[in-house]
Amino acid sequence: MHVLVVGGGGREHALVWKLSQSPAVEKIFCAPGNAGIASLAECVPIKPEEIEKLREFARENGIDLTIVGPEAPLAAGITDLFQDEGLLSFGPCREGARLEGSKVWAKQFMQEHGIPTARFETFQEQEEAYRFLERASYPLVVKADGLAAGKGVIVATDFQEAAQAVRSMMEERAFGTAGESIVIEEFLQGEEVSVFALTDGETFYPLVPVQDHKAIYEGDRGPNTGGMGAYSPAPVLTEELAAEVSRKVFEPLLRGLKKEGIVYRGVIFGGLMITPDRGIKVLEFNVRFGDPEAQVLLPRLRSDLFPLLYETARGNLAAAAPPEWSSQTAVCVVLASQGYPGDYEKGKEIRGLEKAQELENATVFHAGTAFKDNRTVTAGGRVLGLTAWGASLKESLEKAYQMAQIIEFDGKYYRRDIGHRALRRSDNE
Ligand code: AMP
Ligand code: GLY
Repeated sequence: MHVLVVGGGGREHALVWKLSQSPAVEKIFCAPGNAGIASLAECVPIKPEEIEKLREFARENGIDLTIVGPEAPLAAGITDLFQDEGLLSFGPCREGARLEGSKVWAKQFMQEHGIPTARFETFQEQEEAYRFLERASYPLVVKADGLAAGKGVIVATDFQEAAQAVRSMMEERAFGTAGESIVIEEFLQGEEVSVFALTDGETFYPLVPVQDHKAIYEGDRGPNTGGMGAYSPAPVLTEELAAEVSRKVFEPLLRGLKKEGIVYRGVIFGGLMITPDRGIKVLEFNVRFGDPEAQVLLPRLRSDLFPLLYETARGNLAAAAPPEWSSQTAVCVVLASQGYPGDYEKGKEIRGLEKAQELENATVFHAGTAFKDNRTVTAGGRVLGLTAWGASLKESLEKAYQMAQIIEFDGKYYRRDIGHRALRRSDNE
């Protein structure tokens, strides 16, 4: 089989890495890929948003399956476009991608179909939003409706902060048209966990849960990033809770999609809050694998990834055996460029990659890297995902942090407390 992976970050490197182990996969292309992906796949200089060019490429190169990493091409309808030509694309159609592409739509969908979520109001008019904020209790959360690269969510502790968030989204258009509508919702306390399921709209196979660290600074402080590290399993999600997630989230979601006539074929990713007193609540849905969640999910997958994705895209998931998982703990520590998620410099030479790769049960997934004059250099905010797996969280973390010391580049920044909640939990046991 010939496969095209769309995207060029750590998630896509992990997908390419796992697919390269499949006996069914003969050749992998990746658009646009990165310096790490280039050792496993042929990189093609097409951006994920250039969905028509991707279709051309898939047609001309006899691609059997295209696997879409990021959300933007899905929201733009890449799967619909491919389907029109009889090409197979893993990831939901445009309508299904609204679960991530429009927070207003997703919240209304959850309400309508009985999926537990934070209480909320939606607004199209600023004045109405301010009036609501005047009588609201705090903290609360203000969210831009559309895609905002993970930055469109602001937790406000008082009226001033909330009003500023509304102004920046609706008046100053900090996130462009994504802020035309907003959601204001209650602030939930608890521990977050990422849950995933593959589904073809009929069958769903839950994947193992993951916890990520979104904040830039240790102690989960500071602005949110795409994710500074992750680990799986996530001990907060007990088997009992996982069963509850299937019953209260995935099953009603599938019923709801069907009822609305939406054929959803891909992965669904729920960002959940496990509240101490009100059970599980869905904070958001994403319509793709998480990044860096995929980097810890895929090393734990013992099954061949290809048939799972292929049968999902074909609408025949039941034909693939349910995924099997290793009981090991996988962790990913992200090395970022100093300044991220704000401004940062690029083009810094990365040293020590080969030495770090010598460790067993560990691998380096590239995120923002490129080749320049025969050297691997930084090319993004998140640069590398140092991933390790082993019998315990502690053991895996030690290995990932060993790699973090071996690898050097100017402005290297990483959090030294990945997995702190789970470590505390196991210390208390
Ligand atoms: P979202 O993109 O909706 O997942 O929001 C990004 C992050 O904001 C989440 O991972 C949470 O850390 C935080 N967040 C979002 N909604 C809420 C909420 N209702 N209560 C508390 N924190 C939230
Ligand atoms: N790590 C969170 C995300 O991929 O959205």
